Formats: sequence, structure tokens, C-alpha cells
Amino acid sequence: MGLCSSSTNIAPSTTGNLSSVAGSSQTTKTTTTTTSFTTSSLSISSSGISSNVSGNIQFSSASSGDDRGPGGQILPHSNLKIYTFSELKSATKNFRNDTILGEGGFGKVYKGRIEEKSGSKVNSNASVVAVKKLNSESMQGVEEWQAEVVFLGRLSHPNLVKLLGYCYEDEELLLVYEFMQRGSLENHLFGRGSTIQPLPWDTRVKIAIGAARGLAFLHTSDEKVIYRDFKASNILLDGSYNAKLSDFGLAKMASVSQSHVTTRVMGTHGYAAPEYVTTGHLYVKSDVYGFGVVLVEMLTGMRALDDDRPPNQRNLVEWARPYLANRRKLKNIMDPLLEGSYPSKAAGQVAKLALTCLEPEQKSRPSMEEVVATLERLSDIKERPKVPRMHNSSPRSPYRYGQQPLRHRSTIHVKDDVNKRIQDSPKGS
Ligand SMILES: Nc1ncnc2c1ncn2[C@@H]1O[C@H](COP(=O)(O)OP(=O)(O)OP(=O)(O)O)[C@@H](O)[C@H]1O
Ligand SMILES: [Mg+2]
Repeated sequence: MGLCSSSTNIAPSTTGNLSSVAGSSQTTKTTTTTTSFTTSSLSISSSGISSNVSGNIQFSSASSGDDRGPGGQILPHSNLKIYTFSELKSATKNFRNDTILGEGGFGKVYKGRIEEKSGSKVNSNASVVAVKKLNSESMQGVEEWQAEVVFLGRLSHPNLVKLLGYCYEDEELLLVYEFMQRGSLENHLFGRGSTIQPLPWDTRVKIAIGAARGLAFLHTSDEKVIYRDFKASNILLDGSYNAKLSDFGLAKMASVSQSHVTTRVMGTHGYAAPEYVTTGHLYVKSDVYGFGVVLVEMLTGMRALDDDRPPNQRNLVEWARPYLANRRKLKNIMDPLLEGSYPSKAAGQVAKLALTCLEPEQKSRPSMEEVVATLERLSDIKERPKVPRMHNSSPRSPYRYGQQPLRHRSTIHVKDDVNKRIQDSPKGS
């Protein structure tokens, strides 16, 4: 979730005020139910829609029932289940280490098994879930926990991870999600270990399309949600590599009447759009920039930022730009794990698309709907069958001209070293 780790960043303040955002988009709408929340007390109604931390997060329900994208909608009520702490404790075998799926700035994520009870009998149907447990020392996490409940609890789309419920008990804050069998895109692109298989080209395109549809849904929904934390670790994959966005802790509602939202700069270094980092102005198109960064990561298999790379390669986007514009040059930076198995025409189109997403001027970037359409078109392009070369009997190298890739893959990193969160002083509300 959108948090900084205390090991590498200054702990953020909890005064992030979301009221100006929500308020401005709510002027003609009625809020029907209220979720109020402070760090010392919390109450969420069963249809929790608006909330109040040090500011407000509100979701209008007046228009929401009809707000459907393809296969998605903003639900009039969240159907979140309230879990007890003991239920989640037993689901995760007392939060045993061997159930840990991963760890982010919010805390650890555990795999759990929840037994479905009917009456006094324990049903044989158990559901597998992912349980995210807030670090007790993370005060910023409280705000993000709340944003997750408010946003994700009511958003329903095949490309958004499903939040099943939450637990708030004795200072313990937990979130319960559908379990995503294949973990995060980050693990697949940069992870190590025998269980992680390199992603073939078609799967990468499929993931990009899924994630793009998720963002397009958020941007075009009536409430216009800006996701703000688009990155490889927040793209989760189900058993068939369908991509779903997770972590709405930093999500914001865009104002209908204003082009941008002014906000404290938070997010992840390497993914955040330049206008957002320098001015604190957050646009729907700021998410498009983050999408462009992930596209480049998918092409190259390199992280957005990596201090272990040579200085000129540390910032992936800056280094890769000249290669992206030219299909012949692009070959030199393609992920070696693809072993040259990709349609070069489609890769060239993805690279060009990435460049437009990475336009410094936000207005010049495409909408996420346009991105979806482009990716869908190029997904039909297949690799041409390779003709064996008669004059060369040596095994095929994925690199042309005997050249080694310009890539420098780093060894396994502690996440915080490579994905530093942005935590600047407040730039706005
Ligand atoms: N619903 C889920 N199903 C399966 N695995 C999950 C699920 N949610 C999270 N994970 C795993 O837990 C890891 C940590 O997730 P988390 O969102 O807490 O941190 P992050 O995205 O890596 O970092 P950040 O805190 O910056 O968002 C993920 O990378 C993923 O491997
Ligand atoms: Mg995450």
C-alpha cells in the first residue's frame, strides 16, 4: 500500500486531507451513509460510503448504482464482511511465518484459510484468502487502511482485486482480499527462485491489457478515481495470469470541475509522474505515466529504479528513452528472459505506446481507454516463425550481433532499497 517504510523514509504525517478532493466532486450529490473514522475511534456502517479521518473521503452513492464500465461498477453499498481477529488468527495459523505471502509498507500479507460455518457445523468449504495486517507502529497505515475500505469496498471490476472484508479490533487493523495465486507482477519480472517462471510475451501483453482495463475503469467511472500508486508490485495475478490492481490506500477522487487535485506527494519513486513530483498536482494522466513506466519494466525486465545499476542506468525511463523510439535499438534492451521470443513489431508498438504514456506534458499522454485499445490491437500480432540460419550452427543467442544486453540485473533486493516511497512534505491539502 502507499506507505513509506520507516527504515528508509521519514514517517509520513497523518494529516493528509482528502476533503478538498471529495468535497469538490460532491457538490450536487447526496451522501447517504457515513463512515466515520479517527485514529482513536472507528465506526463503519454496513454500507460505509463516506469517512472522516483528519479530512474526508466520500463516495457519493447518488449516481453510483448505474456506474458501470465493461464488467465493472461502483456498488451502491459495500458488501464487506467484518472478520474477528481470532477468526483471522486461526485462518493464518496465528500469523505463522510460513503463511507470509509478502510484505509491503503497510505490513505483512498472509495466506489464510477461512472455514465457512453454517450454524454449529463447520462447512467443508473453506475459502483461501490473503490477509494484510497493519504494522502496529504505522499510523499512516490507519489512513490508508481506511481509504482501502472506502474505495475498494465499493469498486467492482474484473481487473480490481476483490476486498472481502476487514477487521478492526483492539488496535489491530486487517484487510481480507481474494487470494491471487500467482502473486504480483513484480515477483514475476524481478523475482528469483525456481517457482517463478519467466513471463512469455503473450502473458506480458495479457497482463498489460488487464491492468490497463482496471485503470481505465477507475478513470472513466462517474467518480473518476485516480489510483496514484500504479506499479508492478500492485498488479496481482490470478491462476490464469489475469491482472488485478490492488492497494487503494493512496487513491483519490478526481474533481469533476477541476483538471487536477493538489495533494501531498506520495507514491513510489520511479513511477510517479514528473508534474506530480514537482508540483503536487495530481491528474488522471499521472496514472498513465506510471503505466508507461510499468510497460518499460515489462519490455526490459528491469526495475524502474535500481541503485545497483551503473549510474546512467539507475533511472530506467531516462536511460531507456532513446532505445524505445527505434525498433532496431529496442532489441538491445529487451528482457533477456524472453530469449528473443516476441514479435518485434508488437514490441516496437508497445515501446512507442510507453513513450506516449511517458510524455512529460500530461495532456500529451493518451487516455487509459486509448491505451487499452492500442494494446488490444497489438495483442493479435504474433511472432513470425523463426527460419533456421544455414550458415550458423551455433546455438541461437537472443542477442543480435553477438551483443550482450545492456541490462544489468541486480541481485535480490530488500524491497525498500529499490522501491523507495515518495514522502515529501505537504505540497497542498
Ligand atoms: N491478494 C493477494 N493475494 C496474493 N498475494 C498477495 C495479495 N496481496 C498482496 N500479496 C503479496 O504480498 C506482497 C506485498 O503486498 P503489499 O501490497 O503489502 O506490498 P507492496 O505492494 O509490495 O508494497 P507497497 O506497500 O508499496 O504497496 C505482494 O507483492 C504480493 O506478493
Ligand atoms: Mg501493494
